Amino acid sequence: MKRGVQFGLIAATAFAALFPSSEAMAQAMHGHGSTMGMHQHDEVNMPGLRGENASPEESSDLAVMFRNFDTITREVENLPNGIRTVTWSSDPKVMEALVRHAVGMIDRVAQKDDPKIFIQSPTLKAFFMHGDEIKNEIEVTDKGLVVIQTSNNPALVTALHVHAAEVSDMVDRGMAAVHDMMMKQRRGH
Ligand code: HEM
Repeated sequence: MKRGVQFGLIAATAFAALFPSSEAMAQAMHGHGSTMGMHQHDEVNMPGLRGENASPEESSDLAVMFRNFDTITREVENLPNGIRTVTWSSDPKVMEALVRHAVGMIDRVAQKDDPKIFIQSPTLKAFFMHGDEIKNEIEVTDKGLVVIQTSNNPALVTALHVHAAEVSDMVDRGMAAVHDMMMKQRRGH
């Protein structure tokens, strides 16, 4: 009983973080008869994908990827000094959004220009602080989008490994991966 209450509180906090304005939250909750609809909320508009410093197009590319995550496949190789990833979507529209997203975000990291997307992972903080210490190679091939990112800074190498795994989790499970990540953050592990 006590654990249930505690879970409810954590869930409510995570839910509120996904829907930062009470209006968005009310909108998201409306119509499915449950105030704790963690798995039924507004996945069409996905207001948590907006950002303080992000354009509507950037948020819309994220929504396209989340809505169609089951069309995306991905392979990650952890290198001693970074990562090599190959990400592909069977849907050309999703592939377009994916390439635009990765190119745009990697460019933002290089310029230390944080989009402050409401649901973004705290792993990204290190990138936006030290983005100029990451070397990037991006290429679109017939196997998909190939990204190689390397750094001489061991903390950034670890962050690159962690973030690549977080992207893979989102590719495997969509928004459920984001929910879990936020719940863990709030529990402090
Ligand atoms: C289905 C969801 C998502 C997919 C498929 C996706 C895909 C990718 C890919 C392929 C990359 C290139 C690096 C790599 O391959 O690991 C990337 C980088 C990046 N993504 Fe996403 N992403 C998703 C969600 C998000 C979200 C919610 C954010 C929030 C801001 C975000 C922010 C970033 C940033 C900042 C980078 C650049 C990181 C760096 O330079 O090291 N992504 N993403």
